[in-house]
Amino acid sequence: MSGPSSYNPQTGIEKWIDARLPLPRLMYDSFVSYPVPRNLNYTYTFGGILSVMLIAQILTGVVLAMHYTANAEMAFASTEHIMRNVNYGWLLRYMHGVGGSMFFLAVYIHLFRGLYYGSYKDPREILWILGVIIFLLMMATAFMGYVLPWGQMSFWAATVITSLFSAIPLIGDSVVTWLWGGFAVDDPTLNRFFSLHYLLPFMIFGVVVLHVWALHMTGQTNPTGVEVKSGQDTVPFTPYATIKDTFAMVVFFVVFAYFVFYQPNYLGHPDNYIEADPLVTPAHIVPEWYFLPYYAILRAVPSKLGGVVLMFGSILVLFLLPWLDTSKVKSAVYRPLYRQFFWILVAVCIVLGWLGSKPPEGGYVWAARFATAWYFFHFLILLPLLGLFETPTPRPASITESVLGEDGDTHPDAGAETQPAGAAASPQSKG
Ligand code: HEM
Repeated sequence: MSGPSSYNPQTGIEKWIDARLPLPRLMYDSFVSYPVPRNLNYTYTFGGILSVMLIAQILTGVVLAMHYTANAEMAFASTEHIMRNVNYGWLLRYMHGVGGSMFFLAVYIHLFRGLYYGSYKDPREILWILGVIIFLLMMATAFMGYVLPWGQMSFWAATVITSLFSAIPLIGDSVVTWLWGGFAVDDPTLNRFFSLHYLLPFMIFGVVVLHVWALHMTGQTNPTGVEVKSGQDTVPFTPYATIKDTFAMVVFFVVFAYFVFYQPNYLGHPDNYIEADPLVTPAHIVPEWYFLPYYAILRAVPSKLGGVVLMFGSILVLFLLPWLDTSKVKSAVYRPLYRQFFWILVAVCIVLGWLGSKPPEGGYVWAARFATAWYFFHFLILLPLLGLFETPTPRPASITESVLGEDGDTHPDAGAETQPAGAAASPQSKG
C-alpha cells in the first residue's frame, strides 16, 4: 500500500535487516497491516487461491520435468513411466493436470467477480490489463502443456491450433512452418513447446507481482463499489483476510483433492491415453473444457481468418473494457439492468462452452453464431450505451454505512461487527 509504513522492528536483527533490505517491512505492510474493506465477500478470496495454485503448478511441474523426456519417440512412454514407476509420480501428474483445470476454474470466478463489481474501472485499469495479460499467458502455457504427454489429443490439438496461423494472409503458411520447426507437428515442435511451457509460468509469476503491486496502489474494490473513506471502512489484512482466505483455500483444495483422488481423468479426454499417431485423425478433436467457449467462437464463422480474428478478439476486447463501460457506478448491486445482462453473459459463455464440445454442424453452428454475436454485442454495444441510459439505485454513503446502517449501530449484526471496525482504525488505513 502506498501509505506510511506501520512496521516497527523490535529486535536488533530486525532493525539490522530493515536498514539494509526492508523485505520484512514490505511483507508486513502488504500482508499484515494492509487495510482491506471490511465488507469483502468470498469472491474476493480467489486472488489468493490463484497465487497458491500458481506455486503448486510450478512445484509439481518442476518435479515432473525431472522425469519427463521431451522427445517425440519417448514423451508418451516417459509420461507412463511417471505414472507407473516414479514414486508418487501418479500423484504429481494428476495434481498438475487437474491443477490446470482448477487454476482456470479459479481464474474464471476471479474474472467474472471483476466484471460483476466493476473492478476494472478507474483507478484499477492497469491492474485489470495486467490480469488480462496473465490470462493470455495462462492460455498459452496450458495449450503447450497439453501437448507434452504426446497423446492423440495432444498431437491433433497442436496441429489444429497452430494451423490457424495459416489464415494470416500471404505469410500464413511460412509462419506455421516456422512455429512447427518443420513441415508437420513433430519432435522440434514438442521441444519448443516444452521449453516455453517451462518458461511461461515464471513470466506469469512476474506479471502477478506487478498485478499485486498495482492492487496495493489502488486498494481493493468491495461489493458496494464505494471507495474506502475512513479507517472505519477497513480491517487489517491479518487476521481478517488471512483467516478468510485460508478457509476458502481449504474448501477449494478439498474440491481439488476430490478430483485428484476420485476423478483424475474426468476433465481430460480418453484419446490422450493413445499415443500420438499422425496417420489417424480422431473423430472429434476437442480442447480441454476451459478452452471450449473459444473453440465454439472459432468454428462459428465459415471463414478461417474470420474465426481466428473473432477468437482472439473475444479476449482482446477485455483490454478495452475499462473504456467500453461508461457507467460511473462500479458494483452491479446498484445497476439493475447491468446485473441482468451480466448473468445473461455468464449463461452465454457457458452455452458457448457446451457448443464447443459439439460437432460443428447444423443447429450447433447457428447457436454458436448467435452466442458469439451476443458476446460481442455485450461488450461493444451494450456496455457503452447502458452507462448512459441506466438509472442506478441509491448507494450507501460509505462501506461502514452499508454494514452497520446509517447511524453506525442500528444494523442487527452491529454488535458482532463493532470490534473489527475499532481494530481497523490504524494509521495504515486509507484516510
Ligand atoms: C495467476 C493468476 C492471477 C493471480 C495470482 C491473481 C491475483 C490476484 C490477487 C491476490 C488479488 C487480490 C485478491 C482478490 O481480489 O481476489 C487480485 C485482484 C484482482 N485481479 Fe487478479 N490474479 C490473477 C489473474 C487475474 C485475471 C486473469 C484478471 C482479469 C482478467 C485479474 C483481475 C484482477 C482485478 C481487477 C483485481 C482487483 C479486484 C478488486 O479489487 O475488485 N486477475 N488478483
